[in-house]
Amino acid sequence: MIGAALLSTCHLLALAIGVPGVVLRGVALRGLEKGDESAFSRLFTADAAWGLAALLWLGTGLTRAFGPFEKGSAYYLHSGPFLIKVGLYAAIAAIEVWPMITFLRWRVARAKQQPIDRALVPRLRVLNDLEVALTLAIPFCASLMARGVGFGLFDHVS
Ligand code: HEM
Repeated sequence: MIGAALLSTCHLLALAIGVPGVVLRGVALRGLEKGDESAFSRLFTADAAWGLAALLWLGTGLTRAFGPFEKGSAYYLHSGPFLIKVGLYAAIAAIEVWPMITFLRWRVARAKQQPIDRALVPRLRVLNDLEVALTLAIPFCASLMARGVGFGLFDHVS
């Protein structure tokens, strides 16, 4: 019981860290679009928060879904909203590959005081906005799956 509560707490903490992280990363990208040089450090801080939340979600989420703490993997694998939720998470992870690599390169370039190609910023901002939208859809799926709505939704597929 305590284990389940702690996992749920960490899962929700990821939401508290991740949503401000990805939203503020978008704000920093908008600042860069306007030529605000100081936005780089805010971008890197927000990006670190977003990365930390992603790892926390994955670790606690998989433990909850496939460990002995919640309803059990048989339940979740038949829950339509759970499968949609994991699909949304996977979509975010796929979208994030290029921004993650780019921001890592930018960190190295800044440390070496090398120039950064700002032409990429508008595209990175669009991808960030997409990630915000997908992230906000996930708690709705979580609420449905926790209540058994959409159970067996995709059972005819397998
Ligand atoms: C691979 C990634 C993830 C997995 C495997 C996962 C799995 C789970 C599981 C098993 C539960 C328990 C549901 C129940 O009570 O029966 C849960 C709850 C929840 N998840 Fe996730 N999750 C993941 C990512 C996320 C993300 C990215 C978000 C938010 C953007 C999120 C938000 C929530 C919320 C709000 C709840 C309900 C509150 C709670 O009981 O903690 N999850 N998740």
